[in-house]
Amino acid sequence: MCGIIGIISRQPVADRLVDALKRLEYRGYDSAGIATLEAGVLTRRRAEGKLVNLAKRLEDAPLRGSIGIGHTRWATHGAPTEPNAHPHATKALAVVHNGIIENYRDLKAELEAEGVTFESQTDTETVAHLVTRELARGLSPKDAVHAVLGRLEGAFSLGFLFNGNEDILIGARRGSPLAVGEGEGEMFLGSDAIALSPFTDTVRYLEEGDFVVLTHDGVEIFDEHARPVTREIRRAVGKAFYVDKGNHRHFMQKEIYEQPEVLSHTLGAFVDMTTGRTRIPNGQSLDFAKVNRMALSACGTGYYAALVGRYYFERYARIPCDLDVASEFRYRESPLGDVDLALFVSQSGETADTLASLRYAKAEGLQTAAVVNVQESTIARESDFVLPTLAGPEIGVASTKAFTCQLMALAALAIKAGVDRGVISPERELELTRILAEAPRLTNEAIRLEDRIEVLSRDMATKRHALFLGRGFSFPLALEGALKLKEISYIHAEGYAAGELKHGPIALIDETMPVVVIAPHDRSFEKTVSNMQEVAARGGEIILVTDAKGAASGAVEGAEMIVLPDMPEILTPIVYAIPLQLLAYHTAIQMGTDVDQPRNLAKSVTVE
Ligand code: F6R
Repeated sequence: MCGIIGIISRQPVADRLVDALKRLEYRGYDSAGIATLEAGVLTRRRAEGKLVNLAKRLEDAPLRGSIGIGHTRWATHGAPTEPNAHPHATKALAVVHNGIIENYRDLKAELEAEGVTFESQTDTETVAHLVTRELARGLSPKDAVHAVLGRLEGAFSLGFLFNGNEDILIGARRGSPLAVGEGEGEMFLGSDAIALSPFTDTVRYLEEGDFVVLTHDGVEIFDEHARPVTREIRRAVGKAFYVDKGNHRHFMQKEIYEQPEVLSHTLGAFVDMTTGRTRIPNGQSLDFAKVNRMALSACGTGYYAALVGRYYFERYARIPCDLDVASEFRYRESPLGDVDLALFVSQSGETADTLASLRYAKAEGLQTAAVVNVQESTIARESDFVLPTLAGPEIGVASTKAFTCQLMALAALAIKAGVDRGVISPERELELTRILAEAPRLTNEAIRLEDRIEVLSRDMATKRHALFLGRGFSFPLALEGALKLKEISYIHAEGYAAGELKHGPIALIDETMPVVVIAPHDRSFEKTVSNMQEVAARGGEIILVTDAKGAASGAVEGAEMIVLPDMPEILTPIVYAIPLQLLAYHTAIQMGTDVDQPRNLAKSVTVE
């Protein structure tokens, strides 16, 4: 969370800093700021709220410096106010920071004892004062930063600009990503390569503990012991890469509409479409024949994808799976003795808890794999096997296309695992992959229900609470449907396994409680119908998401219906996700919330 950017150039940099911050705004948007050197003098502009507020401030009071740093914030320490906005500055320097300095209280107490006064409530300001103290002791900027890095605990990336020094920018990485870009006579720092993509396609990623000195003519990277190191150049992101909304009102809507296409790309990575055989992408040698138990872990929507993944692996490959949210997995110290493969799911590939869980599994000697959307991410780089989702950049904070692509990857992997373990015959493999190939067509049909769902959303927007129910493959979708609704419309929503209703949540049912029931006409349909009747008997309003058979069954009188095409079970989690996404999207629009950047959230959660 938080996005950082730095540019050292001979041209004014303010516009480009703001432009890069736009591409980093998915990492947080509580406040934003930039600092440049105006005729050598450190000058800041900061503003509370979204980046547009900073842009307005810069229109009124432009900055013309040719070296600068910028930041977009997701508040951790201190409210999202202007004094807490980055860059934080002393007379000697300014700093931008992503992550958390865990020992900042001790460091702050030490500085205050020396008479230093603080202007903000942030952990970041301690770093500014610590480096200032080292400079005052006569150290060079590089040595001062290195000395301070040794005192910091936590996970972070940092960017430094020095007052009166137009020839140097410094960046540092521990735990949070930092990319370094090289142009002609100008160099760049950024939280990701997309931020730098209009400026350069020559990008290196700092490794753990690295710090970097940027001058006009080059970059020098050092490891944690200040020894010069080389890091590979990656050209993964095309120059002038630009993400826009096209004809859509929001990124979220655009990303919902992209699903047919990106699902087919992702399927193509895991299935050779000419032979119909499953494969592990990029010739990697992951063999499930010897995998007798798996541990799955992820956060948020990725966790719900992993929950579907567990159903897939258990049903189609007969592999028992343990599943944990990553924030629990990393500390639970579960005995992993009989686990042969730990599988992580992450869109960003940077989520702090998922990354820590991956590292824990590796330290336990496990083979690790990651279903991951950002191929240059830390999780992708540290996993033994990278299982890519080809969803493309996802900008809307609420995950949509990344989720369904995760499901597609997991379905194809479960089939591959079944084949490797001899529980799926070659004929059945072909049958199943042919079914998966129907996903783009079916998701397209689901998207066409948008008008009907928009009508239903008008009523949903009048409610304060909602329940989502599902059984089997539809249970994780109930959780995901509730998460989508609450995160963008702020309506309180809970997802339950339909069979759990009578064990407590049924007490909530009255005529003000809408219940979204996800129930394709499958083996558990009749049981879910009984649960719906229990809701109807208590006056609850039902929205039934089902197929033609389910709708024709006349299951519950008066229920509103969203009717999807018939499809085999393996596809239902992917296709049934679409109406849930659209329901959340349109309800949020009715409520007038900020769909792409809902309050308090950020796209990439790099803090615990
Ligand atoms: C919800 C959402 C989050 C993420 C979670 C994990 O719409 O997007 O719940 O799924 O923060 O993020 P990744 O997948 O990047 O590890």
